[in-house]
Amino acid sequence: MNNTVIAIDGTSASGKSTTSKCIARKLGYIYVDTGAMYRTLAWYCLKRHVDLHDDKAVATACQKWKAKLVCVDNQVRLLVDDYYPEKEIRSSETSAAVVFVAAVPKVRAWMMKTQRDCIKFGNLVMEGRDIGTNVFPETDFKFFLDASLAERHQRRAAEGVSENIAERDRRDSQRATSPLMIALGALVVNNSGKSIEDTADFIVAEIEKRRRK
Ligand code: CDP
Repeated sequence: MNNTVIAIDGTSASGKSTTSKCIARKLGYIYVDTGAMYRTLAWYCLKRHVDLHDDKAVATACQKWKAKLVCVDNQVRLLVDDYYPEKEIRSSETSAAVVFVAAVPKVRAWMMKTQRDCIKFGNLVMEGRDIGTNVFPETDFKFFLDASLAERHQRRAAEGVSENIAERDRRDSQRATSPLMIALGALVVNNSGKSIEDTADFIVAEIEKRRRK
């Protein structure tokens, strides 16, 4: 398939979601939040009382759950038993649980296959932690978003969510399977003090520049 993928990776609360949605809107692409998929599995495991520290049990839950991809209003959603747990996956409890499911190699293999499958919906802006390094390493459009820890804390607090994002970043960066890292050829964009609109415009301009080469 010849569809294009724009890979947006980065640290927690670095503005990946809002910036990626804005880029998708500007380009007329489909937005994919891969973090929401890991969050959905974490929520599902909590709900089913799967022990998050038992990799085998988490992998089994992931291989057996009834999950399916749909595209609604230019956004890809992962449904479980035909349900989209939009609010539940943003809770502090789910945020604290997600790093454990995301570190399980069989979960990452399932997610990678499912995320690659999203290309069937069209051109994508896909955000996450390993899109440029692992899910779509072949794309020419890789970006890594970051912002100061103080600003990232402020953004989460403004959303009414309290969590230790530095600790989540540490766990994401240190896991053995596809850790959070800057992909080869990725452009690092530090958006401290910058608006979403300005960051999105900068990235869209860079995509156009790369296309002309
Ligand atoms: O919104 P925020 O940036 O804080 O996180 P998210 O994008 O919703 O991702 C939640 C968690 O899912 C991350 O901290 C990672 O543990 C995991 N994740 C991952 O391992 N790989 C991805 N491609 C996306 C998310």
